[in-house]
Amino acid sequence: MTAERHILLIIGGGIAAYRSLELIRLLRRDGHVVHPVLTSGARQFITPLSAAALAGQKAFTDLFSLTDETEMGHIRLARQADLVIVAPATANLLARAANGLADDLATTILLVTAAPILFAPAMNPRMWEHPATRRNVAQLFADGAHFIGPAEGEVACGEQGEGRMSEPQAIAGRVRELLAPVDQPLAGRHVLITAGPTHEPIDPVRVLANRSSGRMGFALAEAARELGARVTLVAGPTCLPDVPGVHAMRVQTAQEMMHAVHEALPADMAILAAAVADWRVKNASATKLKKGGNGPPVLELAENPDILASIAALPEGRRPALVVGFAAETGDVLANARAKLKRKRADVIIANDVSPQTGILGGEETELHIITDSAEEHLPRQPKPRAARAVLQYLASLLVKPDSGSNG
Ligand code: CTP
Repeated sequence: MTAERHILLIIGGGIAAYRSLELIRLLRRDGHVVHPVLTSGARQFITPLSAAALAGQKAFTDLFSLTDETEMGHIRLARQADLVIVAPATANLLARAANGLADDLATTILLVTAAPILFAPAMNPRMWEHPATRRNVAQLFADGAHFIGPAEGEVACGEQGEGRMSEPQAIAGRVRELLAPVDQPLAGRHVLITAGPTHEPIDPVRVLANRSSGRMGFALAEAARELGARVTLVAGPTCLPDVPGVHAMRVQTAQEMMHAVHEALPADMAILAAAVADWRVKNASATKLKKGGNGPPVLELAENPDILASIAALPEGRRPALVVGFAAETGDVLANARAKLKRKRADVIIANDVSPQTGILGGEETELHIITDSAEEHLPRQPKPRAARAVLQYLASLLVKPDSGSNG
């Protein structure tokens, strides 16, 4: 969960100003306090009243004198802010900021603040490409500013090219990353986890099941959340309670789990820890099977879809950057796990020995091997929550940093 932070949102004068109103809503949803500042250009497009109403805070403009008591208070706020966002950042605003001008409230704030500054440029593509703008962006970048966008697409004047302000969703995501404490390497990431067994009905009262307790998957979900991720947990039948702050989807069968997992995409990382039944009963009965008559029923089995393989085979863009499977083995643990890594096209396989004498399946402790194409890591026997934290730390280090949209 994100802690409350104070964000100064400088809204520049461009048609994209109206999309900053949506950004205010998203930032507040993430728990931030947003203080809008409108340049005189911005006021041609939106009113301070609409920004203030959405922010639930006073909106500042140049209508106040810089020596005004209120305005001085706002300068103090600029010094204390956790982040300053400039969205949309027009060519003019970038130029004034790059040259250290302080000729209005917005640029004064940019000079006064000690907080990180995130620019979301929006302008005509030719203006963005102009050497003067390139120089200004490079200067601001060298001064330590962050950038997101602009994006490709049609801009308001009808021209195509790079110039559209990044989507408010994307800007809010970048804010999450910028404000993430250093010990939250998964901040801003979506981690999808499956856990527990699946139950495959034989009739309305009987099921094919396995001994998985779901403990490891639930512990992984909690560990991912602790590292700052947004977590979706798709769980088969277990008696474990929901994990606070984790979005839970409860299912019964492998087919339901498959459906829920694909519905929860996109994700940055998918950890398939469920003990999915390989088979379901093809001739499951709609009514309770009775003894007598023709003797015991003969169950006909059909193979269940392989959820892990289906995720790993998704096309780029839809496929999570890291697809992680588990291998529960009762012999030749490492060799079987390596074969599984290849066969299912996973990026990582986490292997454990579930022979009955280990007490791992359904138990409190586990011993794991993390296997990738190029590395092998052994995690000694320990309680599942501790093992889960170690696994997540390792996986977080494997997630490559996405293109942040930086320019310069
Ligand atoms: N898995 C899955 N969907 C299935 C079966 C398995 O997503 N229908 C996932 C599990 O969650 C686990 C991995 O695949 O991450 C390995 O599962 P396992 O049942 O051990 O592998 P199998 O392919 O069934 O191989 P084998 O039966 O030969 O051990």
